[in-house]
Amino acid sequence: MKNIKAIIFDAYGTLFDVNSAAEKCKDKIGEKWEGFANYWRTTQLEYTWLRSLMKRHKDFWQITEDSLDKSMKAFNIDPKMKDELLNLYKVLSPFQEVPKTLKILKEKNFKLAILSNGTPSLLNQLVKSNNLDDLFDDLFSIEEVGIYKPDSKVYDLPVKKYKIEKSEVVFLSANTWDISGAGNFGYQPVWVNRTNNIFDNLDYKPNTEIKNLSELIDII
Ligand code: LAC
Repeated sequence: MKNIKAIIFDAYGTLFDVNSAAEKCKDKIGEKWEGFANYWRTTQLEYTWLRSLMKRHKDFWQITEDSLDKSMKAFNIDPKMKDELLNLYKVLSPFQEVPKTLKILKEKNFKLAILSNGTPSLLNQLVKSNNLDDLFDDLFSIEEVGIYKPDSKVYDLPVKKYKIEKSEVVFLSANTWDISGAGNFGYQPVWVNRTNNIFDNLDYKPNTEIKNLSELIDII
């Protein structure tokens, strides 16, 4: 990877485990917790794309709640659990190797930032609750442009702020569609393929694929 001016991370699913909220309630939810967590995440993402296409923006926190309501009905989950699940979503756990890897990258003096669908206050809470706030130069939120990923206005935010070329951004995401968006935009994307997933057919294939974030240290 050449001419790196900034390393930018997706938040949900890449740095932070979106299933960890439901997992922490698995004693109450039972065996269906994982199916429920996946359904919640898929519905949440569908709502981001649909709202962008319909031009009816709602912020990511409202979408997270709306998609939770539908998912709880679909999986017949006690409505009393709603507040607990939402509160846990505000303080999702990072994947195990994330804090250490970010510290190593910071020591190497890379500019580090998050670029996410999350609202500024959600992103602040996420990094603060996990003691990661000192490691990032910026937390870029799509709220600045009022449309969700993969709209190119989103990927343009760091390029504009840092006055750098698209190709000077290394962008990491575990979400295939986010890598497709970032690759078509012109970043150098790295796909964090934690679960042996299959890539999309959306006009772009990433050159670089890693199994977890710590592998980034060897290729950067
Ligand atoms: C984000 C979602 C896409 O953080 O994971 O932007």
